[in-house]
Amino acid sequence: MIQYNVLVLGSGAREHALAWKIKQSSKVKNLYVAPGNAGTDLIANNLPIDILHFEQVKQAIIEHKVNMVVVGPEEPIVNGITDYLISQPETKDCYIIGPLSNGAKLEGSKSWAKQFMLKYNIPTARYHIVTKQNLNEGKNFLKTFEPPYVLKADGLAAGKGVMILHDFHEACIEMEAMLNGKFGKASETIVIEQFLKGIECSYFILTDGNKYLILPEAKDYKRVGEGDTGLNTGGMGAISPVPFINEELRKKINELVVHRTVYGLLHEKINYKGFLFIGLLISNNHPYVIEYNVRLGDPETEVILPRINTDIVELFERLFDGTLDQAKLEIDPNYSVCVVAASKGYPLQFEKGKVIHGLEQSMSTVFHAGTTVKDTNVITSGGRVLVVSDKALTLKEAKQKVYSSLKQIYFDNIYYRHDIGFEF
Ligand code: AMP
Ligand code: GLY
Repeated sequence: MIQYNVLVLGSGAREHALAWKIKQSSKVKNLYVAPGNAGTDLIANNLPIDILHFEQVKQAIIEHKVNMVVVGPEEPIVNGITDYLISQPETKDCYIIGPLSNGAKLEGSKSWAKQFMLKYNIPTARYHIVTKQNLNEGKNFLKTFEPPYVLKADGLAAGKGVMILHDFHEACIEMEAMLNGKFGKASETIVIEQFLKGIECSYFILTDGNKYLILPEAKDYKRVGEGDTGLNTGGMGAISPVPFINEELRKKINELVVHRTVYGLLHEKINYKGFLFIGLLISNNHPYVIEYNVRLGDPETEVILPRINTDIVELFERLFDGTLDQAKLEIDPNYSVCVVAASKGYPLQFEKGKVIHGLEQSMSTVFHAGTTVKDTNVITSGGRVLVVSDKALTLKEAKQKVYSSLKQIYFDNIYYRHDIGFEF
């Protein structure tokens, strides 16, 4: 049996959860996370490198004889880390879980993703692509919609590139600001689209660009405040499975969205090896794609990986030997819930450097996000600090387990939502 030296790139709770799952595999010899956090430090070897400097990643691969790399966040993927590593003689044989830059356009260019959806008849909101050259056309297109108006920066804008505006004139002003560089190069092109009303759901697949496995879906709670109020964040908690995804809807999603998406990748000759996150909006019992992400979601990963019983390294291996269709994906039918413990003030200003207490007592799994080690203490180092995750037969019990574990954890200015999964 081949044994792998695996390197996970990233430093959030998603990467801690990936490392935690990979660590359970019998196929792993050594596990590294770069740069990692105080949580990954307990289960793997953290490597203090800058993952946006691909040369540093290459050197780490050579030094530690890494033969499998799992890329967590989108930025290195969209910047071409996979292309770089397979072009280098020393790293070309390494298995890289993360698409090449042609596949990364699904997330890296919203206009490209919309054209892809149109071409492969994948349901999505009606849209128009606008640059400075056709600004007036864009304004006329906006007039064909009722408010609110949705404007999206074409490129990566640190999760802030989507603007939803309620007034036509405000939307026109915003459109000009975006085209004039509000998000730098990312908003030199923008996508205007129809506002869809409905419920969001995060869908995930693992694909080799031809075959695919559908992973458990999740619902993410993006707003900072209880009852889904306040500012948008990276995500304050998640649940899986999502109770409103019934069999009929699942069939529609699989046929109209997943199947057509992978067919599109194959037809475009995009050799996509990795996770694909499909952001869905369910409106009148029909799925629409709001966005593609070329990675797993955070905090969704912290509820979906605990529900996958299959050895994840074996699944990664199958992406490269063409046997993904032979995988037996075992999914735990239990409910999984996670809640993010953040620094008060997040997603705006917050303090760092607070000592975290009570981690050892937790009965639930605690994935670290913004944490680091100082002297012998684990301290806060980011907005989202920890993600507490647990499972149970019912959603209610899973929530109870997570919230009772959270009561044991303390740091100055800890903030979390008390209502994750409130609608169900
Ligand atoms: P995105 O960055 O593409 O995930 O968009 C951020 C958020 O904007 C999504 O999670 C949705 O809540 C919202 N959104 C994006 N596109 C639309 C749309 N066409 N209709 C309604 N809401 C949208
Ligand atoms: N939780 C949403 C994301 O990862 O983009």
